[in-house]
Amino acid sequence: MKTYYITTPIYYLNGDPHIGHTYTTVAADVMARYKKQRGYDVKFLTGSDEHGQKVEKAAAEAGVSPQEFVDGLAATFKGIWEVMNCEYDYYQRTTNPAHVASIKKIFKKLFDQGDIYKGSYEGLYCTPCESFFTETQVENGNCPDCKRPVGKISEEAYFLRMSKYQDALIKHYDANPEFLLPISRRNEMLNNFIKAGLEDLCVSRTSFKWGIPVDFDAGHVIYVWIDALSNYITALGYLSDDDSDYKRYWPADLHLMAKEIVRFHAIIWPCILLALDEPLPKQVFAHGWLQYDGQKMGKSLGNAIDPRALVDEYGVDAIRYFLMREFTFGPDGNFTPTALINRYNADLANDLGNLLSRTVGMVEKYFSGTLPDISTPTAFDQDLIDLAITTLQNAEDRLDKLAFSEALNEIWNLVRRANKYIDETAPWVLAKDETKAPELATVLYNLAETLRILSIAIAPVMPNTPQIIHTQLNITDPTLCEWESGKKFGLLPRAITVTKGPAAFPRVEKEKK
Ligand code: MSP
Repeated sequence: MKTYYITTPIYYLNGDPHIGHTYTTVAADVMARYKKQRGYDVKFLTGSDEHGQKVEKAAAEAGVSPQEFVDGLAATFKGIWEVMNCEYDYYQRTTNPAHVASIKKIFKKLFDQGDIYKGSYEGLYCTPCESFFTETQVENGNCPDCKRPVGKISEEAYFLRMSKYQDALIKHYDANPEFLLPISRRNEMLNNFIKAGLEDLCVSRTSFKWGIPVDFDAGHVIYVWIDALSNYITALGYLSDDDSDYKRYWPADLHLMAKEIVRFHAIIWPCILLALDEPLPKQVFAHGWLQYDGQKMGKSLGNAIDPRALVDEYGVDAIRYFLMREFTFGPDGNFTPTALINRYNADLANDLGNLLSRTVGMVEKYFSGTLPDISTPTAFDQDLIDLAITTLQNAEDRLDKLAFSEALNEIWNLVRRANKYIDETAPWVLAKDETKAPELATVLYNLAETLRILSIAIAPVMPNTPQIIHTQLNITDPTLCEWESGKKFGLLPRAITVTKGPAAFPRVEKEKK
């Protein structure tokens, strides 16, 4: 069976997650579900990045140990993934003893072979962001990310010999044009960073304790990128007694993240892997930020939107749909409550919700809930059928390129086409003439069959909605829900019995907002 290994970044545990954080994980979950539906052996990894000075400080302020502090927040993050219906296969924590053991081995191995050496570090450091910056990156003495002042620090530290791998990395980029996408980020990394020269990277700290200790040099903790990035392989048992998952799933098919950490994934991580003599991930994809009023959403800017509140109000499938449909995956996207309400009402309440309720309602009204096993074609069927049998393939083509919004647009072309088919065939007119009953049955059958195909197509993005459709159409045969069955028209038994249910997506009134 073909494997598919997909990862999100591991999240810093410094506050409640906001809807911006959920963007990467929802996208990864969509891909994982889509690949599972297509029969892949999928491993979907997420987790939390739990070490560092910020955690140490926050725990001290809260009067708890750092471990207790991160335990609480890791539970909060897991709770959010449950709310967002993100079904990861493994949740890695950098405080997990198995991860800690592997990281120590990785660090020692790199040190023993001369890829890590001891030196001294002087740099401009932003404590809240836990990042060093160069003079050119700093903006008027302030951190380019959070805009707070940076300070000069100097300490004895270990370094990773990144410079040694510059040529190998350039070769890898040249041989693998899709290693880093979108293309704009690839060009930026390759031309502005890699070809400009790689500097060795500071990989340890002595200024705090909350990290994985360097076993052979007391006072040093491994920080941060070897600890954080290597989670992608420690989660598979790399350098542990059981590395069967590593053998099965590595190299990763896809590392997903937002743009500000692409440099770490597309430069530092490959250098670590090259030094370890391990294969590089097949693809790194960096999407843009969810913004609010043109600024990156985040705790520090006070514009964070709580995913729980949105899910309570609209339902999880609607929020997942909105995130994947409204914003092109790649550039930044601007989140606004108005866009959410408009999208919800137009695409979900009107287009999809009405298609289902009209179809079920008409089977009830005209045939007392059970379609007769009779049929005569109408002049409008073939157009609908032609589109229905190509929709999944069209969605596949887009999903394979992570073009979520385009994939959903392809699917909604079919939703809209089916609604148009109702207008064209005018079942309420056919219903007035008893001799037209076979045509009316055909129309309603075709609508039900289209809804079956749609239920398959939307499942990766909207995992709960297919069940609503299946319940109303009484679809119980699991083979009718398999991905490939969505490329065929006419599989649904003709004499279906429907059961009307509550509106799948009740309209949201704008005035209430
Ligand atoms: N711990 C590091 C990642 C280490 S991966 C080996 C980290 N954590 S984070 O919690 O700050 O960010 C996690 C992910 O959420 C990153 O991809 C980050 O870019 C993303 N986002 C945080 N705010 C976001 C938005 N407003 N919009 C989109 N993505 C956002 O970085």
